[in-house]
Amino acid sequence: MCGIVGYVGEKRATPLLLDGLRRLEYRGYDSAGVATLDQDRVQVVRRVGFVQNLAAAIPADMPGHTGIGHTRWATHGGVTEQNAHPHADSTNRIALAHNGIIENHAVLRARLEDDGIVFRSETDTEVLVHLVSKFYTGDPVDAVRKALLLVQGTYGIAVIFAAHPGLIVAARNGSPLVVGKGDGESFLASDPHALAAYTRQVVYLEDRDIARIDQEGWTLSRLDGSDVSRVVEVLGEEWADDGRGDYSHHMLKEIREQPESLARCLRGRVVPESGGARLGGLDMDPREIAHIQRVGVLGCGTSFHASLVGAAAMESLARIPAFAEISSEFRYRNPVIGRDDMFFAVSQSGETADTLGAVREVQVKGGRIFGVVNVVGSSIARTCGKGVYVHSGPEIAVASTKAFTSQVAALLVAALSFARTRTLGPHEGKAFGDELLAVPSAVGEWLESEPPSVMDAVELVTKGRFVFFLGRGVSHAVALEGALKLKEIAYVPCMAYPAAEMKHGPIALIDHNTPVVVIVPDDVMRDKTLSTIAEVKARGARVVVVHSAGDMHAARVADISIPVPRASTLLSPLLTALPLQLLAYRSGLALGRDIDRPRNLAKSVTVE
Ligand code: F6R
Repeated sequence: MCGIVGYVGEKRATPLLLDGLRRLEYRGYDSAGVATLDQDRVQVVRRVGFVQNLAAAIPADMPGHTGIGHTRWATHGGVTEQNAHPHADSTNRIALAHNGIIENHAVLRARLEDDGIVFRSETDTEVLVHLVSKFYTGDPVDAVRKALLLVQGTYGIAVIFAAHPGLIVAARNGSPLVVGKGDGESFLASDPHALAAYTRQVVYLEDRDIARIDQEGWTLSRLDGSDVSRVVEVLGEEWADDGRGDYSHHMLKEIREQPESLARCLRGRVVPESGGARLGGLDMDPREIAHIQRVGVLGCGTSFHASLVGAAAMESLARIPAFAEISSEFRYRNPVIGRDDMFFAVSQSGETADTLGAVREVQVKGGRIFGVVNVVGSSIARTCGKGVYVHSGPEIAVASTKAFTSQVAALLVAALSFARTRTLGPHEGKAFGDELLAVPSAVGEWLESEPPSVMDAVELVTKGRFVFFLGRGVSHAVALEGALKLKEIAYVPCMAYPAAEMKHGPIALIDHNTPVVVIVPDDVMRDKTLSTIAEVKARGARVVVVHSAGDMHAARVADISIPVPRASTLLSPLLTALPLQLLAYRSGLALGRDIDRPRNLAKSVTVE
């Protein structure tokens, strides 16, 4: 979604701003712009399309050692140059970039228009810059504060003032901002990726913080005017590694990184000696674990699919009643939250607005919620306070792949830890832990010798009218994930169903033009799923079967057979998801799609 960068120092701002914006491209956007200070006015350049269009439009000698930049993912107003950020006030002496949504923008706009302000865009953001201008009487922080006190909604903003060269004012409410300190220069960004190449010393703003940033650093205050300071944190090494290396796409790189990302996620957490698991971030003693009445696992999109596997593991391994739910539904249905319930918020980015809303809803109702998050220091991680980092490393491709398997692995470790207290003896716990620890190398071996039948499946699904993905139990979660990947990367229409539901309606869609992808590991549901395969084949469907290696019967009924290493039921998603990730990637390639930047999508969805 939208991204913000800012620079103040001795260097020319635009090259640094453009570099920061390029590092934010992975989040998804449709226009971009920069504003710098040029003597007594702000100079703004904006373009529709990619950052390279903007770079081409920026004069080589564009002045300014202080500047802000923005990538916009349209919400209010179409994708036009006028609606792109930054926006300037009527005097062209103040420029502002904004992430988030101003909910009362219509009322504020009407009032400003009554004051004679002529708006130049359709955005909700433009009210902010006119409000700041209205309240500006010489103190930039005071003007921003007064403007924000009138605003309802979410924001991360960066503002520059022609009258204050060498200064950026930034403020946050619900939309992340991080400030970084270099040598005689300071950086601002909505995402640590954008500044990790320049500095590792950062401060994450909290909601209702206002930062006054100059080249020596920053001072922070609160929206109510009180002073505040925040701990300087050091960004980990991996944050600077957002390159593609020798890979043609981030998505392929991230798929291939799964042996390492999974090993990192499991390292030190599975404890074979006790047959249990250790998750320091949860900080729960066995007595507390013994009292858990119910587990809820919340997430959106791919993270919801990982949540389904997590909930299944909590219930079948630890015998705790458990459910998974889409965050956006959960947060508004006034859920009952018991004193001994426990929730997990699953999110790669840690910034998904719906999941953050669900976290707050659990907290308002007095419940306990723990993050299962990839991005360190993100809003969900900070709001939960406790949780598990999945340690996937940066995931740049819009389609989530390595984060999915790490989320599943982290939830399986949590389930093992609870199960060891409640249901499992040391030997059973050790057997589960040992199998889990062996998964990364099984994943590595499979990826290294990817079966050629994946390409046959690509040929089939890219020619089909519509694709079904079927599975049962945790394989239904994998079917959902496979279908989501194929939709978002290849734009192939498809749908996932629990296999047995086919005969209750969807089977009417099957004909010889309908490829069906079935996930059927060798578990207790195998024979039932094989019956569904027979039913769809009888109606002319061509079937791709992802099955356990050595299951000759499953291979025989398949038109295209894709074997994966054997694993017990709960662990099988870590293996059966792999061919579906590659199916989506290779189908997207075959159809000429923009793999790492699929249309209309954003990497972190910071609006509702
Ligand atoms: C799909 C995908 C999305 C995200 C969803 C939640 O490939 O990436 O469905 O999973 O937007 O994002 P996070 O995990 O950042 O909360």
